[in-house]
Amino acid sequence: MVKARGRAARVKKSDGQKTKNKLKELGLIDEVRMIESDGKYVYIPVLEGKGLGKFEIVEIELEGREKRKGFRELLAERFGEENAKGVLSSYDVVGDIAIVQIPKELEAHEEEVGKLLLKGDNKVKVVLKKAGGREGEFRVTRLKHLAGEGRTETEYVENGVRMKLDVSKVYFSPRLSHERKRIMGEVRDGENVLVLFAGVGPFALEIGKAHPSAKVVGVELNPEAVAYFKENIKLNKLENVSVELGDAKEAVKEKFVSWANRIVMPLPMGAEEFLDTAFLAAKPGCVVHFYRMVERVGGQKRANEKIGQAAKRAGREVEFIFEKEVRPYSASTVQIVLDFRVN
Ligand SMILES: C[S@@+](CC[C@H](N)C(=O)[O-])C[C@H]1O[C@@H](n2cnc3c(N)ncnc32)[C@H](O)[C@@H]1O
Repeated sequence: MVKARGRAARVKKSDGQKTKNKLKELGLIDEVRMIESDGKYVYIPVLEGKGLGKFEIVEIELEGREKRKGFRELLAERFGEENAKGVLSSYDVVGDIAIVQIPKELEAHEEEVGKLLLKGDNKVKVVLKKAGGREGEFRVTRLKHLAGEGRTETEYVENGVRMKLDVSKVYFSPRLSHERKRIMGEVRDGENVLVLFAGVGPFALEIGKAHPSAKVVGVELNPEAVAYFKENIKLNKLENVSVELGDAKEAVKEKFVSWANRIVMPLPMGAEEFLDTAFLAAKPGCVVHFYRMVERVGGQKRANEKIGQAAKRAGREVEFIFEKEVRPYSASTVQIVLDFRVN
């Protein structure tokens, strides 16, 4: 490593940590050089700036810190900016597993991309590639191993909740974390919350943790997801959250008629087929959070119409209270959320 001459704050060894904290607060630490000690004094490399007057400043040679290159930099260096953008715009990290989409131009080098990701991102231990779209009723993605450890199970923390899951066996997307946070903020004390299509439990667990007085039930068809959901309830020590294995329509008919104050419907590819079910479960005043993929142009209006028609069939009234584009999906499609109250 190379020594670099520059300014440093000199303090007695016993005051080292305190001074470092103060300099950090002031944004005056020079991260490019290392802190060193000669046994009696500590030398903290500093930048020019307001507040330095309070410290004893000396000129000294300190070791330079080698800057670690990130994934973005490594990719751009090896394959050029344009190709790097193609990979970077479409990769997710779930716990310590990265899931990438490899553009056609880089397919011949996909394992190298995987290795660069391991090198450039400290927290990533496994790199997988999307080898197809989401498939079947369980909406699971086919994955191919590119680099790192040979496993597909991980633990992920979102909005203060720990979740174990296997990315090759269940649906999971970290891209809805901001929506889960929003819904957590909407729930009121003592509510009965029904999460249809609950997966390994992200909506249900996060709501349950934030609102101990709410009763939260998830319904999920994929037995592997339900097994993780149950493990996650234990992992987070939640007594107000439970999960039902089975089809949402059947579960509601059997156990949740006129039960819910709030219903979450995160099934963007077909939630409208379950609108009759939602109306059956809804108490008067119930709020429904309805997720749907729609055409960018005119798609939302059609979704509103479907909800209106289902309300009519159920003899209920709906009031639309919130709408938002959650995320882009393709050139012509976006995912939206519509919140409506059922009276
Ligand atoms: C888009 S994923 C959402 C999972 C979860 N809410 C999340 O955000 O991670 C949809 C989930 O619905 C489940 N599912 C599909 N059809 C179902 C049905 N008829 N009844 C209950 N769950 C169903 C799938 O297995 C899948 O886990």
